[in-house]
Amino acid sequence: MKTVLVIGAMEEEISPLVSGGDYEKKDAVPFTYYLKNDGKTQVVVTVSKVGKVAMAACVQHFITLIGSSPEFAGHTIDLVINTGVAGAISSKLNQGDIVVGGRLCQHDMDVTGLGYEIGLNPDYDSVYFETDASVVNMVKNAYESLDADYSLMVGTIASGDQFISSREKKEFIESGFGALACEMEGASLAQVCSDNGVPFLVIRAISDKADGEAPLSYNDFKEKAIVNLTELLKKVI
Ligand code: ADE
Repeated sequence: MKTVLVIGAMEEEISPLVSGGDYEKKDAVPFTYYLKNDGKTQVVVTVSKVGKVAMAACVQHFITLIGSSPEFAGHTIDLVINTGVAGAISSKLNQGDIVVGGRLCQHDMDVTGLGYEIGLNPDYDSVYFETDASVVNMVKNAYESLDADYSLMVGTIASGDQFISSREKKEFIESGFGALACEMEGASLAQVCSDNGVPFLVIRAISDKADGEAPLSYNDFKEKAIVNLTELLKKVI
């Protein structure tokens, strides 16, 4: 039996996936989750709340719960997926396109005052958490089987506890980290998964271009972007 954990920061990022009657809603205080088990794969879908702290708490909670609770038959997790929307940093990405985090970093981690590289947490060897190549290939294959009218790019996703909506911040994230897209949780999930030795995937749909128009665009495109992503996510799962 495979076990996949899917986490969105907001309810609207996971609701298209769990609607339709296949999932049962359950409690795991302080979280709730949706569970589907078809005998081959058990899928646990939950909402973390926005930001890196909330995501870290949620990921660790479910990794520990699934590994120890009789309800999950002591299964370990095969893959943790972070789904949701992101702002485009690369000019090649448009609203509705999909970005896969080949690697994740935190653009707001700054210990440069002590001589460390920007983005580096002194407890780690690298600014970046790398996604397993086999996971990235699986997503590429799923995308190719879909005949999609949106594009998919694989590259760096930068996370931080900030909604990015200015040219200056965008340029900082692009030149400092070579990021394709920005959001507020992915690198936190990647860090906790790495610490636990669990494979992860951060996959996001572009809702805005992280510029002055971002707040308006975010509200207009959020739902449409999630529809594209949900179709792909169902294939991946
Ligand atoms: N998620 C979606 N758009 C974003 C943005 N512009 N900044 C941070 N997180 C986002």
